[in-house]
Amino acid sequence: MKQFSHFSLKNHNSFALDVYCDSFVVLDSVKDAVEAVNKGLFLKKFFILGGGSNVLFASDFQGTVIHPAFGGISLVEDNGTSVLIEVAAGESWENFVNYAIENGYYGVENLIGIPGNVGSAPVQNIGAYGVEVKDVLVEVRAISLLTGEPVVLSNEQCAFGYRDSIFKHELKGKVLITNIIFKLSKKKNFTLSYTPLKNAVADIKKLTINDVANAVLSIRNAKLPKVGEIGSAGSFFKNPVLPAETVNSLLLSNPDLNYYNIGNDLVKLSAAQLIDLAGCKSWRAGAVSVFPTQPLVIVNYGGATGSEIVDFYKKIQSAVFEMFNVKLEPEVNIL
Ligand code: EPU
Repeated sequence: MKQFSHFSLKNHNSFALDVYCDSFVVLDSVKDAVEAVNKGLFLKKFFILGGGSNVLFASDFQGTVIHPAFGGISLVEDNGTSVLIEVAAGESWENFVNYAIENGYYGVENLIGIPGNVGSAPVQNIGAYGVEVKDVLVEVRAISLLTGEPVVLSNEQCAFGYRDSIFKHELKGKVLITNIIFKLSKKKNFTLSYTPLKNAVADIKKLTINDVANAVLSIRNAKLPKVGEIGSAGSFFKNPVLPAETVNSLLLSNPDLNYYNIGNDLVKLSAAQLIDLAGCKSWRAGAVSVFPTQPLVIVNYGGATGSEIVDFYKKIQSAVFEMFNVKLEPEVNIL
């Protein structure tokens, strides 16, 4: 375990904000995590930070930032048709996806290019191009922040929803995720439900896992800011999920709205489109801007402060609310 005081988080948040925390603790093993519990590090104000790609520090963090940095990918079972893979929380998501692609394990190729660490993936049930982490996750292993004892959660117990899980609710601040068990297929099995992805690979005869991964990367590169070059945290807002009745009445005055029925009389709207139609697409205030090719993303072109980003997102929220009476909820964790 390494501990630093008055630590700059500039290299630990993808918005590249120059913010400080009182104390920064690096956990190099699960043993370190248990030791941190025993030392009482979780009794005072703390925040567990993975890759820092879905977080907005509105100001300096007056507390301890705990950073699980232990990685590792291991094959735990191979039954000929599928594999179980255990990945440690501090491993980068990118490394895991590349490992799967290189070994011909199907299931996460649509999730290539997502920044962040494996331990954060189940918290918000990361997803893109028709696949969510819940589709390939078998089990989450964690430790209790009260006792340091191991806690194991099955996929079902994680209560996954759209960008949602038990880790945002009942277990918020109660556990530290240490390892995840994934189940991937050894048999070709692609998810091409997202139309632009389906179209991108339509002419390829013998579709391979690399073809799909490359198509996803092209779609992402055409729309999303380059991670590490432009500060952002991916989608800033969630796509709003509303009762079908509410959407029906919205459609009367806005017949062009895109909507997706997601069952249980609930309908998902496109936040990007609402932001676009509310006229916010070209908005910029100093270094903070809506990203032109994907209005769901807010970027920091360099030098913005957390509070400037907060002011900016609230203005977008108000503009969309005034026009559609729909409140966009941030997807990003705001501290
Ligand atoms: N659109 C506009 N105007 C624009 C651009 C887009 O109206 O200027 C509309 C289009 O009509 C399109 C719609 O926005 O139909 C949706 O765009 P897109 O397909 O890119 O997906 P998204 O709903 O905006 C979600 C995820 C992304 C994920 C993509 C692809 C959330 C919050 N975001 O975005 O995830 O990559 O789908 O599956 O669910 C992330 O979570 O950080 C993230 C990037």
